[in-house]
Order: sequence, then structure tokens, then C-alpha cells
Amino acid sequence: MTSLVPTPSTDTAAVLLDQLRRRRHGAVALPGLEPDSYARDHAAFELLSDQRGLIAEHLAARLAGRGDGPISVLSVGCGDGSLDVRLAAGLVRAVPGRPVRYVGVEPWSGSAAMFTAEMAALEYRELSVEVHVASFDDAVVEETFDVVVFVHSIYYVADVGKTLRAALALLRPGGELWVLNAPRAALNALVDVLAPPLEDHPQWFSADVDAAFTDTGIVLDVVVTLDALVDLASSSDDVLDFAVQARLTSELREPVRAYLDAVSVPGTDGEPRVPHPVDVFTATRF
Ligand SMILES: C[S@@+](CC[C@H](N)C(=O)[O-])C[C@H]1O[C@@H](n2cnc3c(N)ncnc32)[C@H](O)[C@@H]1O
Repeated sequence: MTSLVPTPSTDTAAVLLDQLRRRRHGAVALPGLEPDSYARDHAAFELLSDQRGLIAEHLAARLAGRGDGPISVLSVGCGDGSLDVRLAAGLVRAVPGRPVRYVGVEPWSGSAAMFTAEMAALEYRELSVEVHVASFDDAVVEETFDVVVFVHSIYYVADVGKTLRAALALLRPGGELWVLNAPRAALNALVDVLAPPLEDHPQWFSADVDAAFTDTGIVLDVVVTLDALVDLASSSDDVLDFAVQARLTSELREPVRAYLDAVSVPGTDGEPRVPHPVDVFTATRF
């Protein structure tokens, strides 16, 4: 999980983060993000980051490595399907005619409807699609898969270890579990300070996922880190709120932006970018 992105000078950032932490200490929790605007703000956030492209490329290569036969994928927390539709299309185009089964689990019905519509728009007869509108804990999934993937969704489950065990049980022998999650790095240090707790638990970052793999005894392959960068200097207030997973007050936006500036590194164009890495945890069901 070693990042190749240059580390920004952390002194100013540490001071600014500490000031924010002290300012929030004992205060009433900020409101969380609303289901109705979550997918829209997420999409706008992704447009400012190169992470989505890196993930799509990485997962497409992993899927290609699974051979040319029929394939089934379960995407947990599939959201609006904008990533899964790329992966599903890639699977069909790579081997025309082979059956592809793609199932989503998504608790927010608006996002689940977008997933279904995006997949239907592909109009591939080889592609069979279904979505369960439920949280992973509540979803009744009565089939097994070649791949079960969580892309930026395991933050939200109540119990990571229980979730990993349940996901592994949904794999065929030889099937693979892929969990993509962010480390508690510069950006998510802000989430820790600002985001309201989720139903009595914090958001789970990579260290928590790593620990849950160890605790459950599920053997992990080598963890890969994709080093992405996000341009938050030009983000709208809504996208800034998405980045910190809370509805900020107007007084908090300035110190939050100052902190993000302090943790920024130069992008390839020389403009400031916030490091936005994602870790890829993988395990195989034997
Ligand atoms: C950051 S989005 C990622 C969406 C999609 N995987 C992507 O990469 O575009 C997180 C998604 O996880 C979903 N989610 C939240 N809690 C969940 C749970 N308990 N079970 C399954 N999905 C959940 C959210 O509704 C949201 O669509």
C-alpha cells in the first residue's frame, strides 16, 4: 500500500487539521449527504479525479484475466452503474456471444434505477442484469458469482468482517473477491473529523479492511494501490461536501479549502491536486 505520489509538506496541513478538529470538538454533528443528491455529486467529484479511469482500467484487466468463458459479477454498492456499465460492456465486447451475468446491490432506489437503465441501454442480448434494492446485509442473493466487487462501498457497512465472510460465501470455487477502498490519507483525515457517524460506526478505511481480512482469516493477495489525484481547488461547494462526506457550513468551507490546498501536490499540468489513492484488496475462494 505504498503510494508513489509525492508527499506534500505536512506541517501546515497538520496544524490546519488540528484547528478543524478542535473547532468541531463537542459540536453537534454536521448533516450527512442526502440520498437524492449523492449520485449527482459523486459523478461531479469523479469528473475532477483520474481515479475512475484508473479503476476501470485495473478491473478490466483483472476481468480479462478470468478467461473467455461465461462470467458473472456481483457489484455491491453499484451506485448509478457508471463504472459497472463500462466493465460489463468490456466483458461483452472482449468475447462476443459469451454469457455475462451482472448483478448489483444498491440500497438507494434512484441509483439502482440508473444502474438498470445504463445496463439496458447497452442492448447486449448476452448480458443478463439484475439489481437488488437493499443494503448488502439485507439483500437476498440466491446465486453465486465468479467475482464479487465492492468499489468504494465497504465504508458504509456495519461490520466489515461479517461482510467479507458473506461476500466470500457468494463466490464459486475459484471466484475472486475484490474490495476497493481508500486509505485514511490526507483527504479522508477530513472525513474522520467532519463526517457524521454512520449508524453508530465510523467510515471504514483501508486499515480497517486490512484488519478485518486478518481477523476473519481470509487470505489476502498482494494489495495494490492506484495513485490517483483529484482537483478540489476548482470544486463546487456540493462536490467539496461530497469529498468530506458531510454538508459543511459556510464558515467551515474556507478552512477546509485551506487544508486541501496544504495537502496538494502538483499535477502533471503543475496545478494543485489532492492525492486520492485507492487500495485494491483481493482474495480467492478455494
Ligand atoms: C461512493 S458510492 C460508489 C458507487 C459505485 N460502486 C461507483 O464506484 O461508482 C457508494 C455506494 O455504496 C452504496 N451503499 C451504501 N451503504 C451500502 C450497504 N450497506 N450495502 C450496499 N451498498 C451500500 C451507496 O448507496 C452508494 O451507491
